This record gives sequence, structure tokens and C-alpha cells, in this order.
Amino acid sequence: MSHCIGLLSIASKLNLLVLLLSAVCFCSCLSDRIPEFALTKTEESDLKEENGKESVAEDDLDPEDLEVFYPTYQWQTVRPGQAVPAGLHVRLNLQTGEREARLPDNKNEKSDMKDQKKRKRLDEMHINSNSYTSQELKEALAKMKGKEKTENTMEQKANLEDVRQRFRPIEELKKEFEELNMKIETDFEVMVKLINKFNSSTSTLDEKVAALYDLEYYVHQVDNAKDFLSLGGLQLVINGLNSTEPMLKEHAAFVLGAALSSNPKVQVEAIEGGALQKLLVILATEQPLAVKKKALFALSSMLRHFPYAQLQFLKLGGLQVLRNLFKEKGMETLYIRVVTLLYDLIVEKMLLEDSENKEDQMEEKVQQYKQVNLVPAVVEQGWCVIISNLLALPEHDTREKVLKTVRILMASCRDGYQGDYALSTTLSMLRTEYEELAAEEQREGDKDGYFKELLSSINTIIQELRAGYL
Ligand SMILES: *[C@@H]1O[C@H](CO)[C@@H](O)[C@H](O)[C@H]1NC(C)=O
Ligand SMILES: *[C@@H]1O[C@H](CO)[C@@H](O)[C@H](O)[C@H]1NC(C)=O
Repeated sequence: MSHCIGLLSIASKLNLLVLLLSAVCFCSCLSDRIPEFALTKTEESDLKEENGKESVAEDDLDPEDLEVFYPTYQWQTVRPGQAVPAGLHVRLNLQTGEREARLPDNKNEKSDMKDQKKRKRLDEMHINSNSYTSQELKEALAKMKGKEKTENTMEQKANLEDVRQRFRPIEELKKEFEELNMKIETDFEVMVKLINKFNSSTSTLDEKVAALYDLEYYVHQVDNAKDFLSLGGLQLVINGLNSTEPMLKEHAAFVLGAALSSNPKVQVEAIEGGALQKLLVILATEQPLAVKKKALFALSSMLRHFPYAQLQFLKLGGLQVLRNLFKEKGMETLYIRVVTLLYDLIVEKMLLEDSENKEDQMEEKVQQYKQVNLVPAVVEQGWCVIISNLLALPEHDTREKVLKTVRILMASCRDGYQGDYALSTTLSMLRTEYEELAAEEQREGDKDGYFKELLSSINTIIQELRAGYL
């Protein structure tokens, strides 16, 4: 305890102000989160957090002063100044205002400690903002006020006004902080509320959509997604996919996609909960574009790095469902997402097959992937030409993805491509266009530019098509 108080007393006024400001900002962000906040890429905030954490560690905490917290499977109070090892579950006890931590429930979850670094946004912020209790803050503020008086007697009257001005907002912030501090809840508690809101028959459509919207923000985190699962939220969201309300379908798919991302446990539960069929139904039937977009997003999260789901996808005719999107009007913005998904799935399998590191576990995965005959199905269903036709689209980054996909499919699609007059015309036109752009790029001093790379892709494809004739 003495550590932390000592710590706070030496903390400069500025640091405390920053702490208070960030706490207030954090809380107000939580309470009236604007749409952009949830959709912003997380990398940036992660980075900031990490920097913030580092600087706390470097500036304020002498590592040698830190006591180590020895975790058990029971919740234990974390004393101020104690270092909490990574990978623990941390919560704020709302009755005592104290921070508590314990080992994750399931011993299997230990492997998740690696994920700790990737843990996002709120959890880290909870830890940071809860590491000072309001009592400590009050004591620190009392000391600072004491200083203010000393300064007064030291006849630094010129400074006084300045100091006062700086302290007034702190006093106000303190009050605000204490009010807000009471409202800080763990992610788990927030999710329980949101799930209940979504599940309640008395909630309006808007309230349900808002609950899903907020849930999407939480389930990105691997541990939160697991809690979401154990709370029964995942199945509710899967059931939401066949709601009659397009808005609910859309947001249910959004939450599902977020929870599935790089989360094998959720992937398994979701496929068992019937999510794959429901997503395919959405993609196969007439739905607003926004709904299909999110369903495709969830489908992609479901299939990536999950060969079992890929196999079911092929068995259920998922590839035909995606191909039919190309016949539907108004779905153009989905084309490149579909191609990107196919490209990623093909590459994923290739990388694993080429991988040197064939340990037992890998071997099992290789066996699973062996059953996923995606490329033959792609060729059989006429995707070669569907994909190469997309080279006619005007955007460079679309063409880049299509070129990559054409190259990867070359061995299997060559026969069709060689007889494709439209393709060779398109390739010549693109070559001319990118020769010019690459030259311009080089004149501007960019030797290994983007357009040069595209040009080289095009040239490789043209060569490979010619080589086939030999
Ligand atoms: C949703 O509501 C139903 C009916 O009120 C209830 O039986 C079910 O347990 C709830 N599900 C969850 C996950 O809260
Ligand atoms: C969606 O389908 C499941 C069964 O597949 C059903 O239990 C659920 O009630 C349906 N939900 C809606 C909103 O229709």
C-alpha cells in the first residue's frame, strides 16, 4: 500500500491530471460511444495503450519496487503496486472498489496467455484506470492541496493564480471521476446486460440493434468472445440470423463475424450452432446488400483457418451460393470480397502444405485440409473466367487482388485462360497502362513502386500463358 501512495505523492501534478483526464475520457467514451469509435481500426488504440502502459511503467513505477501477485483460481485482491502477471482475469469488485485477479478458469486457456498482448482496448484500460482507487486519489489530491498552501506561504503569489487555475479543473474532474468510477463495469457485466437487452421481448428493435452494435465492440477480444459463448449470447446471435428484420440479421452477422475472428473455440461452437447454414441462406436469398455484406464477413471469419468448416461449406454448396452472387444485380461490391476470400483459403492450404514445421498437430490439420478440395471445385464451377473477368474493373487494388488470384489459379485454369481472347486483350491493355504508370512512378524516384509490381504480375501471367503453348 505504501508503495502506491508514495508513488502517487511523487507523481507530478501533470501526471495526475493526465490520469484523471484519461479516466474521464475513457468513461465518457464508454457511455456515449459514437459509431466511428467501434468501427475504427483497433491497432491504433492498442498502440497507444501499449505506449501508455510502458510510460507508466517507466516513469512512475520502479520495477524493483513492484511486488508480485501470486494468482490462484480464486479471486484475490490485488494490492496497489502489485504487478499482475499477463493472462489473468482482472475485475473491479464493485462493492469494495478493489481490483481482483485470478487465473483463467480453464487450464486449457493457458495457451491464451500468448494472446494477452493482442488483448484489446477495454480490458487494458480497465486495469489502468482501476489501479488507483478513489481513496488513493483523494489522498494524493489532499497532498497536492497541501503543497498549494505551502507555496502560498512561500510568497509565490504570482504563481498562485496559475496554480489555482490548474487546480480548479482537477477538483471538478475529481468529482466527475468519482461519479464515473462507480459506473466502471467489467466487460463481462456489460455483456450480460447487452445480451439481456437483445434477448428481452420488451426491447424495441432499435434497442436490440443498439445492443448488438455494442456487443460487436466487446466480442473482438478473445476472452470476451468466450464469455459471450458461455453466456449463451452466441446462440442468440446465430438465431438472430433468421430474424425477419433485416437490421437484426445484419447486426447479428456483424457480431458473429467479430466473435469468430481468429477464435477457434467460437468457430467450433458456431458451426455446431448452425451458423454456417444460416449464413448461406442469407447469401442465397434476396436480401439487402448491407445484410449480405455482413453475412459474407461472418462467413469469411468462419472459414478462415478452419478446414472443417471449409469442408462443410463445400458440401453445402457454398461455392455455388457465392457464384450466384455474381449473377445478382447490385452485388458488385461483394465481388472482390468473394475473390479475396477464395484467394485466402487457397493460400492458407498451400502454405500449410509447404510448411516445414510438420508436427503432430500440424499433421492433423494437413489431413483435414487434404479433404478440402477447393481448387478443383473452383475450376469445375467456372470460377476461372468469373475471376479473370474482374480484371476489367477500374480500381488498382481490385486488379491487384484479381491478378494475385489469377496467378495462383494459373496451374489449374491455364487451359481456359489460353483460349480466352478477352483475357489476352485485357492483359495487353493493362500492360500498356501499367508500363506508363510504372515509368511515371520511376521518374518520381520510386524504384520499387506499386505499379511496377502490378506490371510485373501482368508480365508473369502473360509469360505463363505463352509458356503453356510450348
Ligand atoms: C433469452 O430469453 C429466454 C426467454 O425469456 C430465456 O429462456 C433464455 O434463457 C434467454 N437466453 C439468454 C442467453 O439469456
Ligand atoms: C431461427 O431458426 C431457429 C431454428 O433453426 C429457431 O429456433 C429460431 O427461433 C429462429 N429465429 C427466428 C427469429 O425466427
